[in-house]
Amino acid sequence: QAAAIPADGAWDATLSLLREGYHFIPNRCRRLESEIFRTRLTLTEVICMRGPRAAELFYGNAALTRQGSMPQTVLRLLQDKGSVQQQDGDAHRHRKGLFVAILMAPGEVERLTGIFRSEWRAQLRHWQERDQIVLIDEVNRILTRAVCQWAGIPIGDSDERTTELAGMVEYAGHFRPGTVAALWRRRRIERRIRHMVEDVRSGHLSIDPDSPLHRVATFPDLDGQRLKAEVAAVEILNMLRPVVAIGRFIVFAALRLHQKPHWAETFRDGGDDRLEGFAEEVRRSSPFFPFVGARVKQDIEWQGHVLAKGQWLLLDLYGTTHDSQLFSRPQEFDPERQISWRDQGFDFIPQGAGAVATTHRCPGEMITVELLKESIRLICREMCSRVPPQDLSVKMNRVPALPESGFIMAEVKARS
Ligand code: HEM
Repeated sequence: QAAAIPADGAWDATLSLLREGYHFIPNRCRRLESEIFRTRLTLTEVICMRGPRAAELFYGNAALTRQGSMPQTVLRLLQDKGSVQQQDGDAHRHRKGLFVAILMAPGEVERLTGIFRSEWRAQLRHWQERDQIVLIDEVNRILTRAVCQWAGIPIGDSDERTTELAGMVEYAGHFRPGTVAALWRRRRIERRIRHMVEDVRSGHLSIDPDSPLHRVATFPDLDGQRLKAEVAAVEILNMLRPVVAIGRFIVFAALRLHQKPHWAETFRDGGDDRLEGFAEEVRRSSPFFPFVGARVKQDIEWQGHVLAKGQWLLLDLYGTTHDSQLFSRPQEFDPERQISWRDQGFDFIPQGAGAVATTHRCPGEMITVELLKESIRLICREMCSRVPPQDLSVKMNRVPALPESGFIMAEVKARS
């Protein structure tokens, strides 16, 4: 006898999702006193779930696929067709090996962090000549320049590249004015990178064979053939776009340092051993990826429930990292929690769960944490500034979220 899954009773809950944003799944879990419920979104039946068991299902059960689990615009702006995230089984593991080899090699992460530091220092010189800066715009530019240089991508117009890469994340959450333009810009950069892949292969573009662009361009897929040039371009964008997205976490880190100045003081004079805990708590507490989707490929029984072939599922990442059963006083910012991506567990899951090499867990967590640590060092040790009155509120129905002002810093000076 299969256990019934509670239903939220809405004929269609899409408008509630838009209204409630990150709180949509947690609100219903609380009301229905259940970690799992059914509802309808965009007129489609969906089962929403949260918690470590649900995370184990999403990151470990071969009966699930990411194909058909996201609206087309989200898919196109983020992972796109043919990408690693859309692969299953052996094909996925093989392709994932490329990402892990590039993104989780300590030497590569250090090289990227070093370029990021130099770019930050170069921009700091310009900031001193201005009355104020908006941090999100500045870090988007720094990260775009750093990641292109790291990857071996000739950057061309760096403002254009910044708008293209930052826009993919900015406009992925809702379909709104700007989404169509973001999609168009995505096509444009995809084309540019496809040409670069072709030029690397033909020898017209000679770059370091160890650079990520070269490695992706020449990577043999499971069938022994090189990736189609379009797919290679998609995978290169799968390294560029999310590095720029780290700018959002950097802004949340700056906000926390502003709200908790004793931490800024700690890091000004040292505190290196506590930096990682701070960065990890920024990842846990900041609203970024609300949930991930999946589809059931064949009927399965799970926790006494039958999940039928074709069923659409959502796993609540934000709700899981804010669940008081897993994290005490989850709304409090507490860098002393012992949480780390290194555990590869199922409760601290801002960027997915489980073992990175074999599941869809994000391969960019090491990079995310290292760039966050570096930006905290730079903010606390290399510059001083004033935070003028501004709207620092974070709207929880804006996905992905950000402090409204983008975090304005005035009278920026290099610390001597
Ligand atoms: C997968 C979030 C940074 C590359 C994921 C997933 C999440 C996520 C939630 C799992 C998707 C799923 O289960 O279907 C984030 C967040 C980031 C971030 C919030 C912060 C900025 C990065 C970075 C990189 C990256 C820096 C690369 C440089 C990827 C790739 C996948 C992925 C390639 C697909 C993995 C697979 O399907 O096996 N990310 N990520 N991400 N992420 Fe990240």
